Amino acid sequence: VANRRHVIAGNWKMFKTVKEAEDYAVKFLEDVKNVTDLDIILCAPFTALYALKNELEESVVHLGAQNMSWADQGAYTGEISAQMLLEAACTYVILGHSERREMFGETDEAIAKKVRKALEAGLTPILCVGENLSVREAGKAVAQVQGQVAKALEGISPEDLSRVVVAYEPIWAIGTGKTASSQDAQEMCAAIRFTLARFMGTASEKVPILYGGSVKADNIAELLSESDVDGALVGGASLDPQGFAKLIHNA
Ligand code: G3P
Repeated sequence: VANRRHVIAGNWKMFKTVKEAEDYAVKFLEDVKNVTDLDIILCAPFTALYALKNELEESVVHLGAQNMSWADQGAYTGEISAQMLLEAACTYVILGHSERREMFGETDEAIAKKVRKALEAGLTPILCVGENLSVREAGKAVAQVQGQVAKALEGISPEDLSRVVVAYEPIWAIGTGKTASSQDAQEMCAAIRFTLARFMGTASEKVPILYGGSVKADNIAELLSESDVDGALVGGASLDPQGFAKLIHNA
C-alpha cells in the first residue's frame, strides 16, 4: 500500500469578503499552526486571495483558487489566468467542480484544457468528478465518474499527471447533510485510481484522491480509514475557522 499523505482542503465557495477572510486566517492559524502530518489547503474566492497570501505566508496552510481560465491572457472578459493565481501565491486550483459544471455550463473539454494549463503553469489541479442521484440510482455512477476522469486527463504526460489531485464529490451529497457511506466513497475512489492507472501506471498509487460531500468533524476519521480515500474537500464545514480546525485535528 502506497504511503500517501492526507490532504484536507476547504472550499469556501462564494463566501467571505476580504475582511472576513483575514479574520478567519488569524483564528484558523492559531489552531492549526502546528499541524505538519497532513496538507491543509484553503480555496478562497479570487478577491480574497491576495489578502490571504499576506496572512498565510510561511504558514502550514496552502492557498488555492476555485476556478481558472484555460487561456493565458487576452480578450477573455471575466476570466482569471494561472499566472494571476500564482502571483496571489496559489499553489492549488479546484477545477470542474459540479457547481461549475451544472450551473455555469462547464464541459469536460473545457475542464481538460484547464487541467492541462494548470499543470503547465505549475499549479496543482484538484479535479472534481461526481455523479448525480439519478445516475447513481441507475447504477451508472462508476462508469460516469471514470469517464469524467478519463476525459479530463486524456493526452497529459504521466509526469504531469503525477501532480494531479482528484476529488470525488457525489452531487447528491453536496450541502445536503447526506454523506456517502465510507464504503461507497472507498469503492469510487478505488475505481478512480484504476482509471488513473490506465494513464500513468503504478504512479497512480501516489495520487491523492479526496472525498467531498457533507464532510464534518465527526465523520472525517471514518472516511479516512478507507485505503483509497486520502483526504477531503470540505464546503460548509470549512467556513468556521474553529470548526474546520477541529475537523483537521480529527483527521
Ligand atoms: O467542494 C466541496 C463541496 O462541494 C462539498 O460541500 O458543503 O457538502 O461540504 P459540503
